[in-house]
Amino acid sequence: MAPLDKHVALIGFMGAGKSTLGPDVALKIGRTFLSVDEVVEQTAGKTIPELFAEGEARFRELEERAATSLLTSSTPKVIELGGGAVGSERTRRLLREQAITVWLDEPLDTCWQRAQDSDRPLARDRDDFARLYELRRPLYDEAADTRARDADDVVLAAAGVHVEQGALRRLATLVPGEGATALVSDPHVAGIHGMDAQLALGRRLQQTHELPHGEEAKSLTALDRLWQELRLDRRGVVVALGGGCTTDAAGFAAATYLRGIDWTPVPTSLVAQVDAAIGGKTAIDLPQGKNLVGAFHWPNRTVIDPALLETLPPEQRREGMAEVVKTALLAAQPLDELPDAELVRRCAAFKSAVCLRDPHDHADRKQLNLGHTFAHALEAAAGYRHLTHGRAVALGLVAALRLSGRDIGRVEELLQPKPVKVDKDAAWAAMQRDKKTQDGELRLVLLEEAGPVWDVPVPAEDVRNALNQLIAE
Ligand SMILES: NC(=O)c1ccc[n+]([C@@H]2O[C@H](COP(=O)([O-])OP(=O)(O)OC[C@H]3O[C@@H](n4cnc5c(N)ncnc54)[C@H](O)[C@@H]3O)[C@@H](O)[C@H]2O)c1
Ligand SMILES: [Zn+2]
Repeated sequence: MAPLDKHVALIGFMGAGKSTLGPDVALKIGRTFLSVDEVVEQTAGKTIPELFAEGEARFRELEERAATSLLTSSTPKVIELGGGAVGSERTRRLLREQAITVWLDEPLDTCWQRAQDSDRPLARDRDDFARLYELRRPLYDEAADTRARDADDVVLAAAGVHVEQGALRRLATLVPGEGATALVSDPHVAGIHGMDAQLALGRRLQQTHELPHGEEAKSLTALDRLWQELRLDRRGVVVALGGGCTTDAAGFAAATYLRGIDWTPVPTSLVAQVDAAIGGKTAIDLPQGKNLVGAFHWPNRTVIDPALLETLPPEQRREGMAEVVKTALLAAQPLDELPDAELVRRCAAFKSAVCLRDPHDHADRKQLNLGHTFAHALEAAAGYRHLTHGRAVALGLVAALRLSGRDIGRVEELLQPKPVKVDKDAAWAAMQRDKKTQDGELRLVLLEEAGPVWDVPVPAEDVRNALNQLIAE
């Protein structure tokens, strides 16, 4: 079952914060939040303390029944389980089959602080509380797919994204299932991290492939070769180790080979760790334009090892920073100031949440195009030469902020956008091709005080002025 189709189940001790975090995460990823305890209370028409007074066994029976009905319900939800619910063998089996199970692992003292003044029947005596805490830890450990400390961790888990310093070394266990893997990379990344990845995959490695370098990977010729070389059966997994070009192309190969097999991107560039390898969009290019052939194919897991960024050249880092600054603007948080590992975790969580809310790009996901209509027009006018996507995005963000009446100081400071020498008419023509003008207006993503808004009609004349300001005489 793919991450998108699974429930997110929150487990952990009393006072771990499940009932606070649960609704918050549900809102972020656009799902309903339900608590097993509340369902029990509603069906029984009694409170938990009242039910406990009738005997714990009866409560556990009702709890198992409620957990079963929620975990077998069809629309994926965020489900909170009571502290003792994982004591049931049946519930643990359903968690394995139907849910991504996330353990909110909080220290005993934190849990006690929060639980001691509640009416919870099992939180009356500190020593009993501590004994139960120790008793249950192994059960949580066994039932959990992952642990979380905050909402971003849970969102990442829901999207199947695993962020861990040094994760590459544990690749064999992090790629879900037991199937054989085909490792796909580009020649440059293969030379730096390929051997470590091969060693980490160990007996699960069946074959290795190298795609051409850069955007060439996203060509029909490269795909044709990869399709013909793949020897995986339907249980096999494509592991894509590299930047966004590798993950886009290898992901598309996985989406189409044998009508679709699993894939696990292991992004190595900043662009891929905060953007390309998240959200299930895969694509190759046509001579007519970029990303014109592709598929939505959500990875079975995305394994992000921020330590891999240490070998990234500075110019590639700048490419990624443009998307990071875009994310920070959308999230209205200074994510761009954080140290690498945390920056990647937070940006990846932001994109994961947006894509979980709108997996097929009908609504919320459009905000990710902030500054991109301008960027694409400039890139097209430059003939996709002498102007990188990151530099174009930096300029595009400036235009989008100006049209939104916002300050551009931060973008200037962090990305130092410099006007580019391209033909003004060519850029304007590309812009109109990209976003059809309707009644003299273009529809853009803007950034209001309350957050991003999309499909906003803006007079063509204003858009053209903003575009011209990005172009050097
Ligand atoms: N699917 C999506 O949602 C999505 C989103 C954004 C971008 N993209 C796509 O991503 C592509 C751009 O990705 P990119 O910028 O990562 O390009 P890329 O894959 O070409 O990688 C950039 C360069 O960095 C090198 N590199 C990568 N990781 C390295 C490492 N750890 N150490 C040293 N060198 C390393 C690569 O060999 C390459 O030379 C574009 O094709 C774009 O369309 C897709
Ligand atoms: Zn971009």
